[in-house]
Amino acid sequence: MKTIFSGIQPSGVITLGNYIGAMKQFVELQHDYNCYFCIADQHAITVPQDRLVLRKNIRSLAAFYLAVGIDPNKSTLFIQSEVPAHAQAGWILQCIAYIGELERMTQFKDKSAGKEAVSAGLLTYPPLMAADILLYSTDIVPVGEDQKQHIELTRDLAERFNKRYGEIFTIPEARIPKIGARIMSLTDPTKKMSKSDPNQKSYITLLDDAKTIEKKVKSAVTDSEGTIRYDKEKKPGVSNLLTIYSILANESIEQLEERYAGKGYGEFKADVAQVIIDTLTPIQEKYYELMESSELDDILDEGAEKANRVASKMLKKMENAIGLGRKKR
Ligand code: TYM
Repeated sequence: MKTIFSGIQPSGVITLGNYIGAMKQFVELQHDYNCYFCIADQHAITVPQDRLVLRKNIRSLAAFYLAVGIDPNKSTLFIQSEVPAHAQAGWILQCIAYIGELERMTQFKDKSAGKEAVSAGLLTYPPLMAADILLYSTDIVPVGEDQKQHIELTRDLAERFNKRYGEIFTIPEARIPKIGARIMSLTDPTKKMSKSDPNQKSYITLLDDAKTIEKKVKSAVTDSEGTIRYDKEKKPGVSNLLTIYSILANESIEQLEERYAGKGYGEFKADVAQVIIDTLTPIQEKYYELMESSELDDILDEGAEKANRVASKMLKKMENAIGLGRKKR
C-alpha cells in the first residue's frame, strides 16, 4: 500500500479553502492508502502566536480532522511537535537546502514582503516540511495549489540527499485536485482564500453559522455581466462560486451552468450558501461533540506513538548515512 502524508497549520481559523483543497481529499484517500495527517504546530510558530490561542487551535484542528471524516482506525493523526524526529530531520535538511532556493519560494516572498522582523524560521520552513514528508517514505502528498512549490523543493532535497549519502528517501509526488485546488477570496477573487486575510468577509470558516455564510456569499464579489458561466479570467468571482458549488454538491460545472441559465446572481448565491451550510452543519455538530470528549486525546496519543516509531527509524537512517553521532545499534 502506498503512503500519503499531509499537514495543516493550526494558525487561526480553518477555511473552506483548506477543506476543499486539502481535507476533503484526505477523507477520500484514506481508504486506499496508508495515511499520516499532521497538525503542523511547529510551522505555525514561524510567525508570532499567542500561547493559549495556539494551544486551542491545535486541539481545534485535531477535532476538525475527525469531524470532516478522518478515521483514526485508518489514518494516523498526530501533532508535529510530539514527534521530535521532525525538528531533528528538519535541521539536517536545512543543511542540505541552499539559501537561494529558499528565498525563491513564493510563500516566503509573500509573507516577508514589506516586513522588518521576519523570523529565520519563515525562510527555513520548507526543509521542515520536507522532513515531515520524507520521514514517512511518502509516495503522495495531497495539497492545494499553493503548496506545490514546497513539494517540488522536497523532491529536490530528497534527490540531493540520496545522491550524496545513499538512496534512503522515497521521492514524493504532489497530488493537486483538478478543481478546487485554489479557492479564491470572496472579496477579491483574484487572490486565494486565506485564513491570514485581515478581511473576515473574504473567507468562510468551518465554524461560520448559517447567517454568516449567507451574508458572506451574498456580498461575494462577482461581475456586472449577469450570466452564470465559468470563465476564470473574465469572471473570477462567479467561477469561484461555481467551483465551490460543484465540489460540495458533487455536480459538474456544466450541469450547474445549464441549471442556472437565465437565472440571476441572487438566486444562485442563495443556493451556493445553502450548499455550504448543508456541508458544514454536520461537520460542526461532530466538531463540538469531539471538543467536549476525551476521545480526542486518546487518538492523538496513539497517533504520536505510531508516528514516532516510523519517524525515528528514518531519522536513524539519515544520521547513519551522514555520519552523525556514533553508529546506531
Ligand atoms: P496550510 O495550513 O496553509 O494549508 C493547509 C492545506 O490547505 C490548502 N489550502 C487551500 N486549498 C485550496 N484553496 C485555498 N484557498 C487554500 N488555502 C489553503 C493548502 O494547499 C494545504 O494543502 N505548510 C503547509 C502545512 C504542512 C504540510 C506538511 C503540507 C506542513 N507539513 C507536509 C503537506 C505536507 C501549510 O502551511 O498549509
